[in-house]
Amino acid sequence: EVKANEPVTFVIFGATGDLTRRKLLPALYTLFRERALPEQFTIIGFARREYDNEEFCELMGAALREHSRLPADDASLKEFCSHLLYHRGDLSDPAAFQSLNDRFTNDSTLPANRLLYLSISSDMVDQTVHFAHNAGLITPANQTPWTRVIIEKPFGRDLETAKALNQNLLAYLAESQIYRIDHYLGKETVQNILSFRFANTIFEPVFNRTYVDHIQITAAETVGMESGRGAFYDRTGALRDMVANHLFQLLCLVTMEPPDGLNAAAIRAEKMKILHALQPAASMQNRPGGVFGQYAKGDDINAFREEDRVSPDSQTETFVALRMEINNWRWAGVPIYLRTGKRMSKKTTEIAVQFRIPAMQLFQHVACEGDVCDLTGVKPNTLIFRIQPDEGIFLQVSAKRPSMQLVVESVDMDFSYSGKWDKELPEAYERLLLDALRGDPTLFTRSDEVESEWQVIDAIWKATEGQKPVDYAPGSWGPTDADQLIAPFSWRNEQ
Ligand code: BG6
Repeated sequence: EVKANEPVTFVIFGATGDLTRRKLLPALYTLFRERALPEQFTIIGFARREYDNEEFCELMGAALREHSRLPADDASLKEFCSHLLYHRGDLSDPAAFQSLNDRFTNDSTLPANRLLYLSISSDMVDQTVHFAHNAGLITPANQTPWTRVIIEKPFGRDLETAKALNQNLLAYLAESQIYRIDHYLGKETVQNILSFRFANTIFEPVFNRTYVDHIQITAAETVGMESGRGAFYDRTGALRDMVANHLFQLLCLVTMEPPDGLNAAAIRAEKMKILHALQPAASMQNRPGGVFGQYAKGDDINAFREEDRVSPDSQTETFVALRMEINNWRWAGVPIYLRTGKRMSKKTTEIAVQFRIPAMQLFQHVACEGDVCDLTGVKPNTLIFRIQPDEGIFLQVSAKRPSMQLVVESVDMDFSYSGKWDKELPEAYERLLLDALRGDPTLFTRSDEVESEWQVIDAIWKATEGQKPVDYAPGSWGPTDADQLIAPFSWRNEQ
């Protein structure tokens, strides 16, 4: 099993926030329980509230009891807590950074390698790194003790702000010290996309415009505004929150050329080529290339505009559907549909690659319930990467239905993680934090990758200028306009 060996102090800025309680601490705790953390490690929570170590430990213990993947028992919590410290400080106060640095200078038991995790609002990132640098908290690149900085998304809000942020950070850090996190890359099922495509012979030759009809990528969520997220989300919206990072990464992995190795540089280089070639599809037959939606009021469910700290006349999209295209030899002319939304019918993230129908129709296709069958028209082959839940890969093919007639029916060839392995899948943050501790940047996003992502988002805003979000019912699949966007195909709902 892989483990991190070098002693480290893990400093979390924004330690009392939701992400720390729900994801970061549970991931660190699981790594600790699995003996993947170094022997010597300390976690320092940096935040404004008045806690001492003991109170912080209690707060985190409660969070672990609620959110940890492994059941958190008293004995291991106590041991884990002996590695936790709290540092009270205000992000806008340089003295708080100075006193944190004094701790490193004065306490010889504190591991001197440091991983700084910025779980803070993106407009504070620049200043926080600046203050940390001035206080002496950031050691020079390529030296020990080392410093690495993990930055949460969104990284800027458009190309201009992302460029400025990248440039400003380079005044204090080398690119090799910056780990921009996109937690989708830490998901086991996402990493499997490349393995599945390039460790097999039979799929790769048909992944191109000759055989693929279109691709659909859906990330649907049933949740609305989780507590405390209203203000952030109202500023951000679905396009920036999900498409600019998670959905683009899925798109890159399913369409990129084979890398010439599995190292960070080779994989990122191929992803970059896709991002350069990616653009909103030209409007076809006066249909827009994008649909924006906002969830309306439902039974016992607030409309987005009624959510805590959301403006009552907000025009922020909580749903977006897009038609994109990749202008390269392999994919030219193949529509790529993306959609994501809050308060949708079902929590599901999947990529469906739909192949063309065979050139000649020899067979009648039927769908049957028991012995009752109806003609359906041809069902194309579809390859589905189910990212979550019910993780797996499914291939829909046509097979002769056993009977005295010669008709075919659509059947599934399934690989499901739970059917093959009884081990629970690791959480994305476990993998990513371990990689950052070991200094492996492969699953993190490089500065030019982030800038290219924003460049495409800017082009989408331009192509959809003036469009306002339309209402959709909570619990639905989004606005019906999204069905027109994908016509003559249809979204894979309810499957
Ligand atoms: C986060 C977004 O990056 O991803 C959230 O900010 C979203 O709005 C979350 O809910 C979805 O992640 P997952 O892993 O549940 O698909």
